[in-house]
Amino acid sequence: MSLRDAYHWPSRTPSRKGSAIKLNKTLRDHLDDLEYKFTVSTDLLKRVTERFVSELKKGLTTEPGDIPMVPTWVTSCPDGSETGSYLALDMGGTNLRICEVDVQGNGKFDIMQNKYRMPQALKTGTRDELFDYIATCVKKFVDENHPEGDKQLEIGFTFSYPCKQPSIDEAILIAWTKGFDIAGVEGESIVPMFNDALKRVGCNNVTLNAVLNDTTGTLVASNYTKPGTEAGVIFGTGCNACYIERFDEIPKLHGYNFPADMPMIINCEWCDFDNQHVVLPRTKYDLAIDADHPRPGLQTYEKMIAGCYMGDILRRILLDLHEQGILFAGQNVTKLRDPLAMDTSVLSMIEVDPFENLDETQQLLENTYGLTTTEEERHLIRRVCELIGTRAARLSACGVCAIVLKTKKQSLMVGTDGSVYNKYPHFKERLEAAFREILGEEIGSKVITTPAEDGSGVGAALVSALQAKGKALTKDILRSRVKN
Ligand code: GLC
Repeated sequence: MSLRDAYHWPSRTPSRKGSAIKLNKTLRDHLDDLEYKFTVSTDLLKRVTERFVSELKKGLTTEPGDIPMVPTWVTSCPDGSETGSYLALDMGGTNLRICEVDVQGNGKFDIMQNKYRMPQALKTGTRDELFDYIATCVKKFVDENHPEGDKQLEIGFTFSYPCKQPSIDEAILIAWTKGFDIAGVEGESIVPMFNDALKRVGCNNVTLNAVLNDTTGTLVASNYTKPGTEAGVIFGTGCNACYIERFDEIPKLHGYNFPADMPMIINCEWCDFDNQHVVLPRTKYDLAIDADHPRPGLQTYEKMIAGCYMGDILRRILLDLHEQGILFAGQNVTKLRDPLAMDTSVLSMIEVDPFENLDETQQLLENTYGLTTTEEERHLIRRVCELIGTRAARLSACGVCAIVLKTKKQSLMVGTDGSVYNKYPHFKERLEAAFREILGEEIGSKVITTPAEDGSGVGAALVSALQAKGKALTKDILRSRVKN
């Protein structure tokens, strides 16, 4: 999926941790303080998970809460009989991808795709500029691959930003995330914007038939190739999950009178977990990130764990230590003051520095930020990276475990994707260790994350195929249901 490409990740396997860190007293005192603030104990993991379960439950009712638990209207996973050719559009943070997926049934597919760079300026431009760009890319792809122009093509749109979904073919943006900030889209339905743009650019043979979140695509695509997968999680630029719920467990939809055991994929949209600030151990760096964010007060959980923010947490800690006279004394830290100066791949590179004297870290800090360090300072910096990365993995585990506890499962297969999961050193091991701490060995070791199939491409095509079979509910189908 596209989030994989958000950063230039180092490709090496991680090295082991450096020898026991020997630091002078001042550095040691500061590191001890950070250790204390960033360490999430088993007890705290359990408390966060407990609160998470109650928020997941609340989100399924009409009571207001932090986690919206969005019904996706996808009421079945593929059964292997799905076939046909579908277009998929994946609007990620960095790239726009258009795919044509030939779904061949029984877990098989063929995929052809074009990737287009998403110009940075579009993320804060106007809504017509954004949708015209998307529609132009779709048209280019269709003109190249279907020059005859007379075939009607159906497209599934993977739009991985928090949305309300009144039906499979409608999505209303709740709030922009991942660095986007475009006026006139929040609170609005994105489908007419997309359709109007298709018309404007003269792309008349494409019809949108499904809008989905990347987690939904990940679950459906993973379930297609690994039947039994019941949750989809993204640990990437953003972090979110979906899972299969029973209709009778979703009180807010009871008016539709669907059968009690009818499955429905629920997109948790859990980035807003703990916006009430009850349980997450926020540090002054988390508070500062929130205060400087275009949406302060929102996305509390995501701001502590997602790839979009981990680099910024490190940057703020380094600046703070500098201001206290601990690091980079007498040096020019201007480059570090740029809010976009550090992305998560920096932590990743520092964590895998193979040299005892952390020479690669030295090169990185010098070449990118013009900063020199002593060896012990670099050891402190590496430990700070480990603290940030470990906290992210452990808190991420709470959401997954909350799904296990909410659904009373004894095991869970999780289709998993995202740059942090796929590339961040030790993330998977740290995550799985936390599963066992929270749920106990017996169940925790049966929560299995597996790298997903391409959810934003293959998943979108499969959801389109399900829609064509009436297993992803359109507004027309839903209108025909009696709503109390
Ligand atoms: C953000 C978005 C969510 C998406 C996740 C992973 O949390 O709100 O919709 O699934 O990132 O990409």
